[in-house]
Amino acid sequence: MSARLPLVVANWKLNGNRDLLAEMLPALTELDASQVETVLCTPFVYLGDEFGDVQKGAQSVASQSSGAFTGEVSAQMLREVGCHYVIIGHSERRAMFGETDNVVAQKVKATLDAGLIPIVCVGETEQERESDATLDVITKQVKSVMDILPSFSDSLVFAYEPVWAIGTGKTATCEQAEEVHYNIRQILMSYNHELAMSTRILYGGSVKPENSKELFSSENIDGGLIGGASLDVESFTAICENAVA
Ligand code: PGA
Repeated sequence: MSARLPLVVANWKLNGNRDLLAEMLPALTELDASQVETVLCTPFVYLGDEFGDVQKGAQSVASQSSGAFTGEVSAQMLREVGCHYVIIGHSERRAMFGETDNVVAQKVKATLDAGLIPIVCVGETEQERESDATLDVITKQVKSVMDILPSFSDSLVFAYEPVWAIGTGKTATCEQAEEVHYNIRQILMSYNHELAMSTRILYGGSVKPENSKELFSSENIDGGLIGGASLDVESFTAICENAVA
């Protein structure tokens, strides 16, 4: 890993409860924040709770700032309850909730406008990988966000999550992941070389304590976005510790 501070993000999805939160928070507080940054993305309802020193993240956000959008939560509201990060464009949102590249880009903009940090998820399906379309798909997803930003923000995080590796137990090999991460950084460099070098690019998809150390040792993998393993305190903290260089 490079000089970029490793970042490990828990994505609880539609899981967890206050008991798990009470167990997770003290364990995360014990990690050395100067060595690894951690973020806990719970369902919205828990984000109003006291997280102490642990950083809060949301799993989605409205693209609009206010108005008649029943069920939505704005970036400003997330900021008000102390959120720092927002996961945007997770493949489950793209596949099940109709989030297109354009919607993802609007949400990134709304998040940055509210002073929060978007974690932009990109990734190819199994079929796209098999037909050798991975880099084309990733390029389109990354550019659709970068092209609508007035300028490259230093508060952007990307997460490469191959759709076929999410919740399936299949993980991309280090070589497969590094190839995509390297390419994402190359795309970002075409916008701003210096900021591209400091942008963190996370890997997600069946990351576990056993495979995390090797993945995180790749040059362009700066941490992880963790689903299933983030619901277990021991597994998640072990992954965070493996991210320390
Ligand atoms: P997983 O999920 O770790 O359970 O594969 C990752 C994610 O969806 O962010």
